[in-house]
Amino acid sequence: MIATNILLNALLIWQTVTGIPADPVDEDNLQTLLETENAIADETIIADIVTQLNQTMSYEDHCGGCIDRLIIGKSLAAAREDMVAPAFTMWCKLSQFYDNDTCVQQYGISTVNGSSLGSNFVDMLGGMDPTGYDGLLYCHYYENNNCPKPETPNVTVSHLWPPKSPEHMSAPEPGNNGTFNVLHISDINIQLDYAIGSESNCTDALCCSSHSHNNQNLTGTSPYNGYWNSYYNSYFAENGSYVQGSYIDVFNMSNVWTPATTFGNYNCDTPEVLVNSTLENILEYSRQNNITYDFTLFTGGMGDSDLAKYLSFEDAVSSDMTVFNILKDRLGKLPVFPVIGNQDSYPHGQLAPLTSNVESKFSWNYNLLSNLWEEFGWLNAEQAQQAREHYTGYAVETQLGLKVIALNSNAWFNKNMYSYVNASQPDNFGQFSFLIEELVASEAKNQRVWIVAHIPPAFTGLPVPSNVFSQIVERFSPSTIAGIFFGHTHEDQFEIVYASSGNDTKSVENALNQAYIAPSVSPLGGVNPAWRFYQVDKATFSIMNVHNYYSPLNSTFTSNGTKPTWFHEYSSRYAYNISWPTTSPLNATYWHLVAEQIGSSVAVRQKYEQFAKRQSPYGSDCYNSKECDYDYCFVTSFTVDEYETCVAAQ
Ligand SMILES: *[C@@H]1O[C@H](CO)[C@@H](O)[C@H](O)[C@H]1NC(C)=O
Ligand SMILES: *[C@@H]1O[C@H](CO)[C@@H](O)[C@H](O)[C@H]1NC(C)=O
Ligand SMILES: *[C@@H]1O[C@H](CO)[C@@H](O)[C@H](O)[C@H]1NC(C)=O
Ligand SMILES: *[C@@H]1O[C@H](CO)[C@@H](O)[C@H](O)[C@H]1NC(C)=O
Ligand SMILES: *[C@@H]1O[C@H](CO)[C@@H](O)[C@H](O)[C@H]1NC(C)=O
Ligand SMILES: *[C@@H]1O[C@H](CO)[C@@H](O)[C@H](O)[C@H]1NC(C)=O
Ligand SMILES: *[C@@H]1O[C@H](CO)[C@@H](O)[C@H](O)[C@H]1NC(C)=O
Ligand SMILES: *[C@@H]1O[C@H](CO)[C@@H](O)[C@H](O)[C@H]1NC(C)=O
Ligand SMILES: *[C@@H]1O[C@H](CO)[C@@H](O)[C@H](O)[C@H]1NC(C)=O
Ligand SMILES: *[C@@H]1O[C@H](CO)[C@@H](O)[C@H](O)[C@H]1NC(C)=O
Ligand SMILES: *[C@@H]1O[C@H](CO)[C@@H](O)[C@H](O)[C@H]1NC(C)=O
Ligand SMILES: *[C@@H]1O[C@H](CO)[C@@H](O)[C@H](O)[C@H]1NC(C)=O
Repeated sequence: MIATNILLNALLIWQTVTGIPADPVDEDNLQTLLETENAIADETIIADIVTQLNQTMSYEDHCGGCIDRLIIGKSLAAAREDMVAPAFTMWCKLSQFYDNDTCVQQYGISTVNGSSLGSNFVDMLGGMDPTGYDGLLYCHYYENNNCPKPETPNVTVSHLWPPKSPEHMSAPEPGNNGTFNVLHISDINIQLDYAIGSESNCTDALCCSSHSHNNQNLTGTSPYNGYWNSYYNSYFAENGSYVQGSYIDVFNMSNVWTPATTFGNYNCDTPEVLVNSTLENILEYSRQNNITYDFTLFTGGMGDSDLAKYLSFEDAVSSDMTVFNILKDRLGKLPVFPVIGNQDSYPHGQLAPLTSNVESKFSWNYNLLSNLWEEFGWLNAEQAQQAREHYTGYAVETQLGLKVIALNSNAWFNKNMYSYVNASQPDNFGQFSFLIEELVASEAKNQRVWIVAHIPPAFTGLPVPSNVFSQIVERFSPSTIAGIFFGHTHEDQFEIVYASSGNDTKSVENALNQAYIAPSVSPLGGVNPAWRFYQVDKATFSIMNVHNYYSPLNSTFTSNGTKPTWFHEYSSRYAYNISWPTTSPLNATYWHLVAEQIGSSVAVRQKYEQFAKRQSPYGSDCYNSKECDYDYCFVTSFTVDEYETCVAAQ
């Protein structure tokens, strides 16, 4: 499906900027490689560094050990950048700091056949201050809580906006011109190597591929023996009709305890046929109910979450292209406003600031996607150019006058090495300035705005950018920002943004805005595949209702190869029995009332959890477990600091 020249082009650019030798290797380049590889001096350096790193492991002070490793790494990076990856990988393996695969993933050098973070680690060491906030933050969030959480520095970006005027203190009330619909799809996470009959109950990172296995010696009879049946090469044809493939007796497979079936599994990402079933259901629902959409939000998640050694450059690009091609193919002229997530780049989760000298390691990715989105007609030439210049972020004005601002959330992701450099600064990536400029311009003309990104900052985000993001949202809420949309967690959730002033910040008076976290198509994490649409007020772009659809994946395990069935799960306005005027939007006040019930009633908490995982067999039991204890903290926190403070106070 993906055009070979697009792949080759991207590969060539990526190889050039990262220094992975292209084939054939030219003479000079080869000579340099041989010289460094054979030098005895280099082996001495590596052995010396390994010894030094090994010593840090015997410290009683784990935090000091972590910081010292960063100091050792930083001085090595300054003297011999090329030695960092071999020295750290060797130390990591010898000391069994991580298992060998993880050592290579964390410190090795990427090749076209498997991604590693070694070169990003070197870049981080070069820029970071290991003994200051950067180092403590890294040792807390990246390296197993080795350091206690450092106190978050107070930052502000308020100089970037004018004071809030009285007329912008409240949101406009919905008009009487009715609503339109917006489709929201998230976390498709296609698994290109999904293999029917492979181990779905595996002990590896991601199951359902030919390299998956269960390392326990399971004996006896698999609980699914005799019930499971599967069909090869089932697919959805161009006209949308389902074509069932040929029968396969999965129990003829050796060494497989729980074979993966046609449509996917709760331990795996999404087979292509399930992506297509989702899109087919969306179209069928639309036809049957005469529902049309003005546009689609896609909050990222194209690649799968397998171990990095199984993720090649080609997989990364092919996942992106396959997902976008299917969306384009099935949704046709309907515009899609996409963002990219942490599994959509190579290596995963990494993004360097434009102001750094290594930004070109990633620009091939934004160019590739911006070109595609322009070619598909989702962005015009000007917006596509903006996306190339803003890590795929852009601002689009829709036909009815809403502005949609898309951001690349790797900028606040706690697995992005580059977000640990100058981590106490408010806006290293310049994305928040971009966001503020767009918001100031919209506010000046009373235009309402939606903000779209992949990662909700409170979940796997870092404190400083979370707080800056939250300050921006507070400044432009509730009048200008009408909605915030995320994906990433795979669960159907929401978050309330509260004003930060006052003694009781989580009060109804302080509720300012809400973020909608969309359910995933991917069943990974024990959730049922889902999609949703919003009913949106035409005049104010406030959300009037959210309609959620899902497919019980476990039915496909025993359905003799017939296509998945999809159901309406619930609509947000009616689900929680909140008394709320039909003319009022589902704004932060509404969600605050829901949150209060989640906090006070175990029955409501249970309902919220069942929605979160879409009635999955792996849903949490709020009555008999502690799994739901932090739900209230989750729905009432927009930043990491808020969430962690709330959890600590429980
Ligand atoms: C690492 O340190 C331990 C003692 O802390 C020592 O026993 C071991 O030999 C060292 N290993 C290497 C490779 O230096
Ligand atoms: C891990 O790597 C080290 C060094 O290369 C090797 O000695 C060891 O056998 C490996 N461990 C496993 C479990 O493969
Ligand atoms: C940030 O400001 C608050 C309130 O003004 C203060 O209590 C806190 O200590 C400050 N934090 C830092 C890291 O300066
Ligand atoms: C999955 O494998 C684990 C061991 O890794 C085993 O304990 C468990 O019972 C298996 N689950 C099923 C449903 O077979
Ligand atoms: C599984 O069985 C093999 C062969 O009998 C044995 O070598 C291995 O230790 C067993 N593994 C576990 C986890 O019990
Ligand atoms: C999925 O849909 C795409 C695009 O419409 C199509 O090319 C592909 O063959 C379909 N695959 C399956 C397995 O249904
Ligand atoms: C479908 O909706 C359109 C626009 O809202 C309307 O003009 C048309 O009559 C509807 N068709 C049916 C079959 O309800
Ligand atoms: C906070 O609480 C103090 C003491 O109870 C009170 O004096 C003050 O007015 C309160 N401030 C706000 C903003 O409610
Ligand atoms: C309602 O729609 C009409 C016609 O499109 C338009 O003139 C009017 O301004 C709209 N009113 C509101 C409140 O949006
Ligand atoms: C699947 O086929 C088997 C054998 O023909 C039959 O017993 C079973 O009822 C079928 N299941 C469904 C869900 O149709
Ligand atoms: C939500 O809507 C209600 C009713 O329209 C309004 O009273 C309330 O102030 C709104 N809340 C926010 C945060 O805008
Ligand atoms: C699927 O799981 C749900 C939730 O646990 C359960 O109610 C349902 O019976 C299961 N369906 C099948 C076919 O096993």
